[in-house]
Amino acid sequence: RRWASSQRTIPEFFSRRRLTRLSESAMSMSVAGITPSNANVPKQKDPHLRECEIQGDIIVGLQKDEEVFVFFKILDARKFRKVLRERLTDRITTTSSALARELQVKAYKREGHRHRLPLIGINIGFTHAGLETLLGAAKCTGMDPSFMAGAAAQAAALSDPVDANGNPVWKPAFASDTIHGVLLVAGPAREVGQPGPAETEASAIVALFGNAVAVVDRETGITRPQRGHEHFGFLDGISNPGVRGITPRTNPENPNQGVPGQDLLWPGAFVFGYPGQDPDKPFEEPGPEPHLPHPWMRDGSYMVFRRLNQRVPEFHAFLDAQAAALGTDPALLGARMVGRWQSGAPVMLAPLQDDPLLGADPARNNAFEFSQDKAQRRCPYGAHIRKTYPRDDLKDPGTLGLKDPEGFVQAHRIMRQGIPFGPEVDEATEETTTVQERGLMFVCYQTSIVEQFEFIQKDWSNAPSFPPAKMRPGGGAVTPGHDPIIGQAGGPRQMDEPLPNYPTGSVRSTLDMPEPFVVPTAAGYFFMPSLTALKTM
Ligand code: HEM
Repeated sequence: RRWASSQRTIPEFFSRRRLTRLSESAMSMSVAGITPSNANVPKQKDPHLRECEIQGDIIVGLQKDEEVFVFFKILDARKFRKVLRERLTDRITTTSSALARELQVKAYKREGHRHRLPLIGINIGFTHAGLETLLGAAKCTGMDPSFMAGAAAQAAALSDPVDANGNPVWKPAFASDTIHGVLLVAGPAREVGQPGPAETEASAIVALFGNAVAVVDRETGITRPQRGHEHFGFLDGISNPGVRGITPRTNPENPNQGVPGQDLLWPGAFVFGYPGQDPDKPFEEPGPEPHLPHPWMRDGSYMVFRRLNQRVPEFHAFLDAQAAALGTDPALLGARMVGRWQSGAPVMLAPLQDDPLLGADPARNNAFEFSQDKAQRRCPYGAHIRKTYPRDDLKDPGTLGLKDPEGFVQAHRIMRQGIPFGPEVDEATEETTTVQERGLMFVCYQTSIVEQFEFIQKDWSNAPSFPPAKMRPGGGAVTPGHDPIIGQAGGPRQMDEPLPNYPTGSVRSTLDMPEPFVVPTAAGYFFMPSLTALKTM
């Protein structure tokens, strides 16, 4: 379903991945040269999104070379509400302004400007405790159970490292649920030796609130010099789902597709107040709107934040040692653990050798399914992208007793909008061991934390037996193992590397991973209200 029947060439200007998220409404402006090739595709059932209500990071993403996350506690709710209403709400970046900014940035780059536009993006979200402080407990009942419990209470269930009392071993501000909210401020890169514009703006906003808030933690995400790549070196942010009503289509013959391989989901998967995904129905059919316990939640979304430390030297030392033992190349082993080469090229399409042109081409780098690879010759079932989004792996009739396997998978998707943090590896002092903290400020949006983020982490990445044996006729009786990137087991992990098909010959192997490569060091569950909700709190 995801294969493009005609893989037409997308002009250079439109071939950048993030452009796929531009709204057709924003792009239908009759400006010569920027009308997309798919402008005439009828959008029969596309819902109309209230783009001025939905905060901009949720679907489109804020423009971010740097992003500051200010975690705060509300000390004076009355004053907080007043400042929010009178001084901040008008400056919140909405979906419509985020879309317009994308166009602006693209045009700027096309014109050959080198420097970045000094755009500041601002969004805000609240924990359950924060919403109760602002709205009163009665208006915060019946929300997502994990959101109401808070991230710290969910840590043990996700197999996050916890102490003897079951409390997560995180930065102290996050380990108990004292946080009321998070302010996101995104901006351009800083000049050498200067504070970043996002840092400066975040401080100015905190000053507006004065003694109405206490800042309990402040984190800064910074895009790596190898732009778009996370710290292990892999191109990230390739495969986010598209959203009907926002994401343009590139194939006139397939109304369910954005770029090839990108399914268009119903907005209710990510924002309240729209049709959502029905696990029992084909994904192209609208499901019911997610349950809206309170009208003020309309056009809002749940945000999961996780500060994930990456042990980069240890990851590469592991690849080197294991690859030497298997007689293969560390880059190939790494690609099989992630499911993509560092360039972004999927191993499903480039099984033995990297193909950087493929990796960088959004018209091709997502156009694959897994069902043609039951014997895992190309991509192990345990690979990060196969665990976190199994595509059509569950599609065999009767598998797991699912009514609609594709609908089931699509009901467990997230919109990722994270950013790396921390310095580059210092080769002199960090050859095999991490000295300085670095990693990913993981951020994702959804309308159910239980069914989306937590389901992926717990039921897929952490579960060694996923996907179950009956789905793997060619895979034998082995267990696929843990997701080697984010799978958590509270101890050593294993991943099955069944038929590596290496250039030097196939060596069946189990990857033993005594230590994790990714360690959560903070987490929070937030709700990002609509603009109207922010104004009327
Ligand atoms: C995809 C890295 C954490 C879910 C990817 C990709 C990379 C990557 C390189 C491929 C590029 C892309 O498709 O965008 C990492 C690293 C992480 C991390 C280094 C931690 C430091 C997580 C977490 C989750 C997650 C916590 C959710 C529980 C996904 C999903 C995809 C993905 C859903 C897309 C798969 C697809 O659609 O093909 N990740 N990731 N990742 N990751 Fe992660």
